[in-house]
Amino acid sequence: MTGRICGTGFCVPEHVMDNEELSRMVDTSDEWIRERTGIERRRIITEETTVSMASMAAENALEDAGISPEQVDLIITASISSNVILPCTSCEVQKEIGAIRAACFDINAACCGFLTAYQTAQAYIAAGIYRTILVIGSESLSKLADWTDRGTCILFGDGAGAAVLTAGEGRSFRGVLHSDGSKGNALTCSGKFWKKDENDTGFMKMDGREVFQFAVKRVPEVIHEVLDLNDCELDDIDYFIVHQANRRIIESAARRLGVDAEKFPINLQEYGNTSSASIPILLDELRRNGMLRKGNRILLAGFGAGLSWGAGILDWTME
Ligand code: COA
Repeated sequence: MTGRICGTGFCVPEHVMDNEELSRMVDTSDEWIRERTGIERRRIITEETTVSMASMAAENALEDAGISPEQVDLIITASISSNVILPCTSCEVQKEIGAIRAACFDINAACCGFLTAYQTAQAYIAAGIYRTILVIGSESLSKLADWTDRGTCILFGDGAGAAVLTAGEGRSFRGVLHSDGSKGNALTCSGKFWKKDENDTGFMKMDGREVFQFAVKRVPEVIHEVLDLNDCELDDIDYFIVHQANRRIIESAARRLGVDAEKFPINLQEYGNTSSASIPILLDELRRNGMLRKGNRILLAGFGAGLSWGAGILDWTME
């Protein structure tokens, strides 16, 4: 028994903040941001919240799947930017969408969040514990960004994506996740309640170069690892859906693997880095643009704070 994606959805805030608007806030320029990251604009919450976007993405995914909220057995939301500490985002989504039977919990695995939640859902389905699982990534990173730090605030955006998994026949693939907590200082956020000292703003802090070097090394490595683990070849993969952090990281991975860059779809120019939401947003966009065909084999790869990284493979079974 394996979990098959049978519906996807996304939701992003109305407000578009382009690089010009950002360059009036910090000492940067549209040219620098495009050249160094590929990002042109991002969505930023005004009225929206992590819960409202997660709920909307979930409703869209359920509608796409033709599944009612009452049929959902489990909701797993990946997020580092929940509205409140308690209750968890999944419980709040449950209330919003009326998924009254569902068990609920959240996962904090930063930018590997959706991948981790997806693999957790697959494990529950493989064990025969649940049959219908809603997996969501939702982030309001603008709440965690230091809007005076040009090294970080230019990178992030807000949004949510969701996928519905149902138990069915088909090939099941083993996923891979890794972490190296000793490198955790490269990307931190202590939060307003847990500031370490008076110099700690509580916002996200990052050593951009270290994270960049980590990503360009680990992404190709973990892609080879997950392919080997599942007796697959690079040529078997139709799309490599990599966490949308920086165009140069994705293009470098394609180059190092010797794979045509067209197999690495990119939408970060529109949304920036939306952490756990980036993979499901891209998945839903590809589906709505008609790019995913039944029988396509897709590789998901993530990396981020922790430091953590991982990959998974799935067969696309929707028409
Ligand atoms: N606008 C203009 N100049 C900027 C800038 C900005 N927004 N941010 C940094 N700079 C400057 C630096 O101050 C530095 O100037 P200096 O040479 O006078 O000291 C110069 O640009 C180069 O800085 P550097 O940090 O080496 O740039 P970079 O090419 O590594 O790009 C990042 C910076 C953050 C875009 C890049 O390191 C990156 O994307 N890292 C990965 C981050 C990431 O993906 N994090 C999330 C992981 S999930």
